Amino acid sequence: MVRENALSIDDLIWPLFLVEGKGVTQPVESMPGVERYSVDKAVAAAERAATLGIPAIALFPYTDPALRDETGSEALNPENLVCTACRAIKARVPEIGLITDVALDPYTSHGHDGLMMGDEIVNDETIAVLTSQSLIQAEAGADIIAPSDMMDGRVGAIRRALDAAGHANTQIMAYSAKYASAFYGPFRDAIGTSATLKGDKRTYQMDPGNTDEALREAELDLAEGADMVMVKPGLPYLDIIWRIRDTFQVPTFAYQVSGEYAMIQAAAGNGWIDGDRAMLESLLAFKRAGANGILTYFAPRVAEQLGG
Ligand code: PBG
Repeated sequence: MVRENALSIDDLIWPLFLVEGKGVTQPVESMPGVERYSVDKAVAAAERAATLGIPAIALFPYTDPALRDETGSEALNPENLVCTACRAIKARVPEIGLITDVALDPYTSHGHDGLMMGDEIVNDETIAVLTSQSLIQAEAGADIIAPSDMMDGRVGAIRRALDAAGHANTQIMAYSAKYASAFYGPFRDAIGTSATLKGDKRTYQMDPGNTDEALREAELDLAEGADMVMVKPGLPYLDIIWRIRDTFQVPTFAYQVSGEYAMIQAAAGNGWIDGDRAMLESLLAFKRAGANGILTYFAPRVAEQLGG
């Protein structure tokens, strides 16, 4: 009764990985318990999420390597995996919130979030592509567009494009404070970019030593029209969640990323920690830090426990 913070099913967003095919569920080796789903299986997962009371899912594609190219052109194909999944899920499970990631990394041969010229990621040229990517996702039924690319000025450009195309109600969840982190490793396995990624993402993702910069990024994204902001990774950056929430009083989300999930699963799998307790404690910590919601691969397991 007197506990100050509590985790609820309403706080959960479930990130799902997509893969081509039919009837396919493919385990992700570095994320025990997580699978890639073909579109039909993703629809079933969305149904499961809705039944469990999970309010939203976030979609990430493993793009067929043959479709990846220098400019990530598959990102702009309205029939690509993400858009196909959006339409299929919206048709069958209209009540689930759909979040789509805006960035080019699942589609580029070099695994970067933006366009490359020589060794550089070029900001403004990338924004033009991200804007088109956002439009086809909104067209396909995405409720929330989540730019994770960290280019400067992309939120404003996406907002204007959405409004002009009649998608004023499509919201933007900005990955405002996205750190250049070692904890994204298993995710890059899941979407198939770990082998191909050239170099690192330190020129556009944030330095783990910085705090004030996170506030400036959030402020810019909010000024450009973001409806909510996100901090990522999660647990190592609770102070950032707290400061953003405290400073701006806007909906602030945390992403408990793949490496955080893998650490808990690996230790639990070895019998070194109590996996269920560690899972719930790590998620409660986000609530204590002020997060309004959490993207977590544990979402269905948590919902089963909290609901049952
Ligand atoms: C990139 C993106 C990444 C994640 C979400 N969107 C990885 C990266 O920046 O390389 C990571 C999520 C996770 O690790 O669970 N657009």
